[in-house]
Amino acid sequence: MGAPAARCIGEADWTLIGKVKNNPRIHIPIFGNGDIDSPQKAVEYKNRYGVDGVMIGRAAIGYPWIFREIKHFVQTGEVLAPPTVEERVNVVRKHLRKSLEWKGPIVGINEMRRHYANYLKGLPNIKEYRSKLVTLNNGDDIEAILDEIIVRYSSYEIEATPIELINYHEKCG
Ligand SMILES: Cc1cc2nc3c(=O)[nH]c(=O)nc-3n(C[C@H](O)[C@H](O)[C@H](O)COP(=O)(O)O)c2cc1C
Repeated sequence: MGAPAARCIGEADWTLIGKVKNNPRIHIPIFGNGDIDSPQKAVEYKNRYGVDGVMIGRAAIGYPWIFREIKHFVQTGEVLAPPTVEERVNVVRKHLRKSLEWKGPIVGINEMRRHYANYLKGLPNIKEYRSKLVTLNNGDDIEAILDEIIVRYSSYEIEATPIELINYHEKCG
């Protein structure tokens, strides 16, 4: 573990993971995780610490495409184009439906509210739509807004932006 201050800003210390992996008595696959937020970093850390694989937590929240981007980067050395607006919105839709199915109409709708901003990051003037998404209480109404977003941004290409990792330890120290 890093110093408390380092832990508070959410910096993972991979050196111990590297030591475990390089211990000659260890004969099981070792995966590392913590702070991976891009294909480049995934490859860099895998190589630097010699681990058998890396796992992704926070970077996948609202951006599950990180997995295919890493896979593509590993296979080709090239950075894959970010998902289209339609792809993003359709994943929101699927997430919403699963959330309703799993958590029911109250919690399912409420829990989704924290995710829209992440999924729709990078779309200009999205605020108006987003405020509807986070205030509507009915799945069909929310899906109607999602349809509107697809139409409104049909020709818009979202630029790749760095993934921001949520700091779960903001209040520590
Ligand atoms: C939503 C969420 C829930 C998590 N729940 C647990 C948990 O129950 N137990 C645990 O040991 N770690 C938990 N973690 C920590 C992750 O397993 C991971 O170690 C941590 O997020 C660092 O990886 P990351 O930088 O890729 O997010 C959770 C992380 C997230 C984002």
